[in-house]
Amino acid sequence: MILKLSNLVVSFETESGRVRAVDGVSFSLKEGQTLGIVGESGCGKSVTALSIMGLLPKPFSKIESGVIEFKGRDIVPLMGSQTKRSSKNAKEKKEKSKKEKSDEMQKIRGRKISMIFQEPMTALNPVHKIGSQMNEVYQLHFPQMNRADMDRASIEMLYQVGIATPQKLMQQYPHQLSGGMRQRVMIAMALSSKPDILIADEPTTALDVTVQAQILELIGDLKNRFSMSVILITHDLGVIAENCEQAIVMYGGRVAERAGVVDLFDNPLHPYTQGLLKSIPTLNQIPKSTLPTIKGRVPSLEDMPSGCRFSNRCERVMDICRASVPIELNPKDDHFVACHLFR
Ligand SMILES: Nc1ncnc2c1ncn2[C@@H]1O[C@H](COP(=O)(O)OP(=O)(O)OP(=O)(O)O)[C@@H](O)[C@H]1O
Ligand SMILES: [Mg+2]
Repeated sequence: MILKLSNLVVSFETESGRVRAVDGVSFSLKEGQTLGIVGESGCGKSVTALSIMGLLPKPFSKIESGVIEFKGRDIVPLMGSQTKRSSKNAKEKKEKSKKEKSDEMQKIRGRKISMIFQEPMTALNPVHKIGSQMNEVYQLHFPQMNRADMDRASIEMLYQVGIATPQKLMQQYPHQLSGGMRQRVMIAMALSSKPDILIADEPTTALDVTVQAQILELIGDLKNRFSMSVILITHDLGVIAENCEQAIVMYGGRVAERAGVVDLFDNPLHPYTQGLLKSIPTLNQIPKSTLPTIKGRVPSLEDMPSGCRFSNRCERVMDICRASVPIELNPKDDHFVACHLFR
């Protein structure tokens, strides 16, 4: 197991009080595998990813509790002040250890665990050439490298992500590239430190369908070439089916169900997963027939029902669902579900 989350709770301080955007999320990522995280907008996919990266927006959000183990070691304590404890005498010592910890997190973030984002244009600097932005990543992680080595490494990496003219591209600005090319550059940057884990947060939503497929294929290909493990975040179950070995379905900041992909598609247990699966179009569908959708919409965090957060939309709701939070059950090998139907 290269990454293991146990009972992660992340809260945001909002105008109407503290809300839990991630509420007790657990899952494991096996070495060399691709794990998909799927769920409707606002279900906590990105917040989960940012927590792993130690990039939660401060001071509004914090990890309340839980463990994030990277190669067997809890990295939550490295992420800086999660708890507000301070004694005057030990302040100096604490400052020093705080710095050491954040240096250590810096080494993990970007170097051991890298992330690519949905919209590459916001992550690339419009006024700098691709070459200097690529080199900057090497400067950060490998300050001992000289300029010529950095250029060489950047060109090699751009070539690895399928750019046929890397030398020319180094001299170009982000706006001169297509969306697919920009995403390839982002992937090249994320991989330049040869990370163990790549987190791809909706890496293809801004792209058209053919380019989407190419980028996903590239990520799968690079996963094998660089022996990485991948977390692929998407709202598209089709993407999960084609690219992942394991998947977790999130709803309202919690894990509704997690299982191997084949098992999840053949035998979905949670009514929410079943609803999502029914809403995927299939080739043999009668043209113009409307797809069944899950009724209602996801409530905002402030308005989540107590008990099971899906209870107000669930077709199989029972009294207990409104009264108590379902714990995660394990009715079958490696297949987990948080639903009162399986008690
Ligand atoms: N900076 C923030 N301040 C306040 N609330 C936030 C902030 N970022 C996220 N949230 C809340 O946390 C919850 C989870 O958000 P998150 O961005 O993880 O959703 P998501 O699953 O990634 O959705 P999407 O598919 O739209 O990207 C949402 O209810 C959102 O409103
Ligand atoms: Mg998101």
